Amino acid sequence: MKIVVAGQGYVGLPLAVRAAEVGHRVVGYDVDPHRVQQLTAGQSYVRDVASARLCAVLDSGAYSATADGAYAVSEVMIRPPDTGVFACPEPGKRDQQNHLAQAA
Ligand SMILES: NC(=O)c1ccc[n+]([C@@H]2O[C@H](COP(=O)([O-])OP(=O)(O)OC[C@H]3O[C@@H](n4cnc5c(N)ncnc54)[C@H](O)[C@@H]3O)[C@@H](O)[C@H]2O)c1
Repeated sequence: MKIVVAGQGYVGLPLAVRAAEVGHRVVGYDVDPHRVQQLTAGQSYVRDVASARLCAVLDSGAYSATADGAYAVSEVMIRPPDTGVFACPEPGKRDQQNHLAQAA
């Protein structure tokens, strides 16, 4: 299965790496280019994900990280994933309800 995970933080990165470990093809998209640079270099900044695990899925080709919005959109729109996951902060609203308009 192909999976795109938007947001490579404390929620998205462990999810993406585990999915890659069990055989899925995962693209991790994050707006922070520094984070993507670290991920691509095999340096995890999330305690739950050891850098060795990250390196293994990078080396196998099961996982890649990108900050390229156009590429991420092409992965979703041109070659649709089987599953897409949003794991990035949601914009708040005064009524404290989740506001997911950006996901539409
Ligand atoms: N961490 C938790 O224990 C926890 C628990 C329950 C729910 N959540 C929810 O999960 C979501 C993610 O939380 P987290 O702890 O992983 O946050 P985080 O801050 O660790 O990571 C969020 C990541 O998303 C990236 N990002 C921000 N906007 C983006 C966008 N538009 N597109 C792609 N990437 C984007 C950030 O650069 C960052 O790397 C939030 O909505 C949070 O409320 C988190």
